[in-house]
Amino acid sequence: MELSRKAKEISSSVTLEITAKAKKMKDEGIDVISFGAGEPDFNTPLNIQNAAIEAIKKGLTRYTAASGILELKKAICDKLKLENSLEYKPSQIVISNGAKHSIYNALQAICNPGDEVIVPVPYWVSYPELIKLVDAVPVFVKTKEENNFKYTKESLEAAITPRTKAIILNSPNNPTGTVYDKKDLEFIAEIAIKHDLIIISDEIYEKLIYDGTEHISIASLGDEIKERTIVINGVSKAYAMTGWRIGYTASNEEIAKLMSNLQSHETSNPNTIAQYASLEAINGPQEDIEIMRKEFEKRRNYMVDKINSIEGLSCVKPLGAFYVMINITKIKGKNIKGYNINSSVDFCNALLEYSKVAAIPGEGFGDDDYIRLSYATSMENIIEGLNRIEGFLK
Ligand SMILES: Cc1ncc(COP(=O)(O)O)c(C=O)c1O
Repeated sequence: MELSRKAKEISSSVTLEITAKAKKMKDEGIDVISFGAGEPDFNTPLNIQNAAIEAIKKGLTRYTAASGILELKKAICDKLKLENSLEYKPSQIVISNGAKHSIYNALQAICNPGDEVIVPVPYWVSYPELIKLVDAVPVFVKTKEENNFKYTKESLEAAITPRTKAIILNSPNNPTGTVYDKKDLEFIAEIAIKHDLIIISDEIYEKLIYDGTEHISIASLGDEIKERTIVINGVSKAYAMTGWRIGYTASNEEIAKLMSNLQSHETSNPNTIAQYASLEAINGPQEDIEIMRKEFEKRRNYMVDKINSIEGLSCVKPLGAFYVMINITKIKGKNIKGYNINSSVDFCNALLEYSKVAAIPGEGFGDDDYIRLSYATSMENIIEGLNRIEGFLK
């Protein structure tokens, strides 16, 4: 029997492989320091936990409208207006089971077989696979460290063909931490309008932003670009709510309707209790968010300075998210402590075996010259883990 060819083409995640290996070592009692985390290491704030408990007690435990409850859609509209200068009606909001699901819905709503979707390299691991799942084709645009890992006008224009349907924009970016400024967004919007393209603007790390940098949603640059942008956001990263699984889209009515119809058959509504918890997250006090953000900023500062002090390694200072991409080109091709380091996977395997430090190879993000370290782990772990990496390279 032949099982699904499409499913067989979806790659297993390199991120998960290394983290699984690290977890196995930890379970065996080995003291592994993991820099693999893709989620805040904080608990969901208490007021949000309580809102969920209240929802259960009030019997708010049944199906809701497939695209989510009206109160949460209204809260999202208010948030988008206040924080992003974006005016949407509740009918333009679709609430889904995490931002990943929102991205999948967006791709399903806009792509036909063979359509091309532009993806920045290094990329978040799921973009190419989600694009393949809707029978579209990922077209990779390599971004460079010297351009702060941003699309350039030339690199984007060169990737566009008559089949291009959409551009993925992810700011703040996973894995590079890059934040696009207004000027960058203006040329991207211009290109999208000129070539009649849709922008999928993944803004999930919006609130994790440092050095006073401003997050700008490309949709806020004007009506024309807003009409062709699908804003992706959610509560996972900002409110330490990764397990609650609530993400959302804001788009034009036509796309919102398509996504809502699709979702009504795929999953029905996202978890009702989690929707009420998200309502509290968005409408409630925001102090805990600032405490987390400040802690991330402190860790980032330490991590970046330390990495740049280690011979053979370097990194740029990321302005957002909670990742640092370490340039390993000076290490590649060397033999260190008996390990031949010819790739990012070799380096990560050596670090795990020799130093008991888990990092994610850049290969998983489409760029083998880097490894990714997450600072969503305690300062204590960061200090010890980086000392171990330094020890390995000495
Ligand atoms: C860039 C990016 N977009 C979307 C997501 C998915 O978020 P969620 O957990 O809400 O599905 C992630 C999670 O790692 C991410 O890094």
